[in-house]
Amino acid sequence: MPEIASRKHIEMIDIIISEALLKANTSSEEVNLVAVTNRPGLLGSLLVGVGAAKAFSYYNEIPIIAVNHLKAHIFANILAGSQINPEMPDKYISLIVSGGHSSLYIVDENLNIKEIGHTVDDAAGEAFDKAARFLNLGYPGGPVIDIISKNANSHFIEFTRPMIESGDFNFSFSGIKTALIYRIKKYPYLMQEKYIPDIAASFQAAVVDVLVQKTVRACKKFKISKILVSGGVAANSKLRQEFMIAGEKQGIRIYIPPVNLCMDNAAMVAGLGYFEFKKGKLSGFDIDVYSRSDF
Ligand code: KG4
Ligand code: ZN
Repeated sequence: MPEIASRKHIEMIDIIISEALLKANTSSEEVNLVAVTNRPGLLGSLLVGVGAAKAFSYYNEIPIIAVNHLKAHIFANILAGSQINPEMPDKYISLIVSGGHSSLYIVDENLNIKEIGHTVDDAAGEAFDKAARFLNLGYPGGPVIDIISKNANSHFIEFTRPMIESGDFNFSFSGIKTALIYRIKKYPYLMQEKYIPDIAASFQAAVVDVLVQKTVRACKKFKISKILVSGGVAANSKLRQEFMIAGEKQGIRIYIPPVNLCMDNAAMVAGLGYFEFKKGKLSGFDIDVYSRSDF
């Protein structure tokens, strides 16, 4: 509910800024650059953040830089200490899996980004959230499904892996969610508590399988041997495990940020802002907000 989300942002933004400064044991006088997400996202929420950032920048007489949220997810890997180095030319396949995006990119050492595929319907995180809602597991769905799947049977239902052989690098996840819903509507006894973990694990396995296989296939097609995984769904333990196994098997180096840098966080935005500032980029008070990403 975008309208409610932005109203909540207005209520919280000052509190969040004060708390962040307090936790970082610093004060606004010590801050010398403001980085702010201005795309992609819900316009109402982005406007609140950008407005607050402009005020902070103006009042404290410090520069401001606009940051692309998706690029910041990729940057979380650099923040986590992976060896991406602007001095050393290299190419990476980057998978961003979040609540709003499931896309594959080719990224270079300077974070120049070219999209090679995206979801044609739901994002992976969105599918987790919708499946969890249907199973009465609450929101966000990803973390709960992850936890209850831990010791469950992921072969309980063999969901079809959509678009796994499509030959392109697009994804489709709404089909897995719909298959889950149809299965339960057909066999209502499956909603008994004892089956929920197995259903969740089967769903998770299908989503993870598609993500890992198609990302590895992109590496082969483009002759790239490094994968950067990021976004909220990169926190998923099964995804992390399967990427590591596939990487070892295929001789591909896998980079995934620690869990606390996978889901939306301000550290990745500040980090990318600083990275781009050092390369000479700067924004002005005319920063606008955009629902879509352009890199
Ligand atoms: O990147 P993010 O924090 O926000 C967006 O930019 O969308 O991603 C949020 C998404 C949610 O859909 C949430 O269910 C999913 O990430 N998520 C997970 C896990 N933790 C968060 N999905 C699967 N397993 C997880 N452990
Ligand atoms: Zn995000």
